[in-house]
Amino acid sequence: MNDADDEWPEAAHGESDAFVRVPADSVAPGQSTLFSFVRDGQRTTGFVVVGSDGAPRAYVNRCPHVPYPLDFGDGEVLDHDRKTIVCANHGARFDGDTGRCVWGPARGRGLEALAIALDGDAWVVTITPEVIYGPDRPRTD
Ligand code: FES
Repeated sequence: MNDADDEWPEAAHGESDAFVRVPADSVAPGQSTLFSFVRDGQRTTGFVVVGSDGAPRAYVNRCPHVPYPLDFGDGEVLDHDRKTIVCANHGARFDGDTGRCVWGPARGRGLEALAIALDGDAWVVTITPEVIYGPDRPRTD
């Protein structure tokens, strides 16, 4: 086990975080802030970016094209303009305000948004149950 493993304690199946606190001073325009959480026993990551209105948005770090993280493990999900979210795998680009894909192989789909609200010196991200899309629940985003 290395140091990185120490940061990822094993969770029992079915265990989920309800909230994640992201220090407010780690969120700023033009940068992405990665956070980790456990949902249904699976550890995963999300990120916070600041929208064009100055308010932060939180998204699950998983591409709707192929369910891989958007980054290559470095937490970098912003394109050169520092506003557009980009997937490092095949280059899909997403509107930072809405999470909707605006270019690339995930076009017509969007990132999974998570609710975020300020609480003192931290942004609190609400971890909701995973949204499962399929024949009974087609994507509308
Ligand atoms: S996995 Fe993101 S564009 Fe293909």
